[in-house]
Amino acid sequence: MSNDDSGLVSVSNLAVLQIEDLVVRFGGVAAVDGINLTLNRNELRCLIGPNGAGKSTLFKAIAGLVQPLSGRIWVKSEETTHLPPHLVARRGISVKTQVPSLLEGLTVYENLWIVARRKYRRQSCKKMIEPVMESVGISNDSTTIVNTMAHGRRQLVEFATALIAKPSIMLLDEPAAGLSDKEVADFAKLLHTLPSQMSLLVVEHNMKFVQMIAQQVSVLHKGRLLISGEPDLVFNDTRVQEVYLGKEATA
Ligand SMILES: Nc1ncnc2c1ncn2[C@@H]1O[C@H](COP(=O)(O)OP(=O)(O)OP(=O)(O)O)[C@@H](O)[C@H]1O
Ligand SMILES: [Mg+2]
Repeated sequence: MSNDDSGLVSVSNLAVLQIEDLVVRFGGVAAVDGINLTLNRNELRCLIGPNGAGKSTLFKAIAGLVQPLSGRIWVKSEETTHLPPHLVARRGISVKTQVPSLLEGLTVYENLWIVARRKYRRQSCKKMIEPVMESVGISNDSTTIVNTMAHGRRQLVEFATALIAKPSIMLLDEPAAGLSDKEVADFAKLLHTLPSQMSLLVVEHNMKFVQMIAQQVSVLHKGRLLISGEPDLVFNDTRVQEVYLGKEATA
């Protein structure tokens, strides 16, 4: 993002999400402390960083769930900085939060129906839900009450709720948390089957999973962006090894 001589803000054609100098404070804590980040069309970018780095707060600010103190956010060419969550969602952003969002006593289908109804007419919901259940592999769980399901299956239902609105941008906060190695590998495969026009920003601590899926990696540390780039470059950076992987710098 840049201001040209006329004062107009120019937005990259490639970018579907641009974040400029974003600051989110909670009292004395700058959870997000001047982040600049771009997500391009078709890109799958992982956002990593130690606990408390500000990853979830950044997601919440993008989704309109927390208000930034300063900075700006654009979705495609429209500024969304201070829009409420439902209007951010209408711009094509879906979020899977770190905290479970499913309604425990309802079935898988009912959960998806409630999400679908926010966007589609009653008559259209069924035909929007069924292909999503199919693509995620939860059709057989349609009538299962969510709180009777194993954690890995529930994560898939959470993912399905984010897919229902056919977003152009998905924000996934720790989708692989608590999954077995096999479930992680299966979920990575599933992400590769998503429509190619979708862009994803994925927060994750599971480095195996990150290495399976990421085209680009950004590292947050204490609310700031430490480095962004291709996975090999990022994982070999001594600063990343110091702050994130807990190793001493070798240089
Ligand atoms: N609602 C809140 N009120 C006060 N402080 C908060 C709030 N949410 C987050 N914080 C603080 O902001 C900082 C960043 O938290 P955040 O949850 O964004 O980190 P994170 O990178 O997602 O961490 P994790 O990997 O553990 O999920 C932390 O210091 C946290 O304690
Ligand atoms: Mg978090």
